[in-house]
Amino acid sequence: MTNPRFWLIVPAAGIGQRMQAECPKQYLRIDRRYILDITLSRTLDSAPFDGCMVALHPDDCWWPDTEASGDSRIQTCRGGSERADSVLSALRALTPHAGADDWVLVHDAARPCLHRDDLTRLITSLQNHDVGGLLASPVADTLKRGSNATPPEALETVDRSSLWRALTPQMFRYAKLVNALEQALENGQPVTDESSAMEFSGNMPVLVEGRPDNIKVTVPADLALAGFILSQL
Ligand code: CTP
Ligand code: MG
Repeated sequence: MTNPRFWLIVPAAGIGQRMQAECPKQYLRIDRRYILDITLSRTLDSAPFDGCMVALHPDDCWWPDTEASGDSRIQTCRGGSERADSVLSALRALTPHAGADDWVLVHDAARPCLHRDDLTRLITSLQNHDVGGLLASPVADTLKRGSNATPPEALETVDRSSLWRALTPQMFRYAKLVNALEQALENGQPVTDESSAMEFSGNMPVLVEGRPDNIKVTVPADLALAGFILSQL
């Protein structure tokens, strides 16, 4: 069998509703660069990928202005209405190139702070695995189950000892991931990350511990935080 290749998929077709900015959050700037450019260059420069597919919103008018649009390692495709649709669209765009056992790493456009060591550890931990897995970080805070009242009241304290925050990249075998996403979407399952689709199809993704500062820029306060984290890396 030939060695599996490594493909990077970056879903970047969201509109960043929670960020409440004048443009999608992947096109906000940190230190004068687009978040999407920071994410793509940090990731592509940290591991030997064979190719990269970026899913873009059909009405995206910012991409031509990015550094990444001139990068020969990167191709683009049309994203879908949910994140999982965008990832599936990128997987299908790779069909002519990718083999069933090739690895696909899916990494959110909105996570510019990925550390090279985390990416390396994810790949080295999983490269001989049948299914794959994801970067994840143990939950640090005490967790409460809240009631439906306004304001919500604490009903109980939830045991956090086996709870993890799912991060990206998430790394899975090409054919297994396509099948899992198709099956989950057909069954109306909520698919908020690749791992949830793999879990639904009966696979057990490996949790590879990653740095908690691999944050997803989601709300306005995250922008300054991401800038600070990047300045310290
Ligand atoms: N994403 C995507 N296609 C979608 C929705 C999201 O490619 N239809 C991407 C986003 O661009 C982002 C990643 O998936 O890089 C994680 O999603 P999220 O943080 O939820 O981003 P948005 O959907 O843009 O933000 P919001 O949910 O606040 O609208
Ligand atoms: Mg979203």
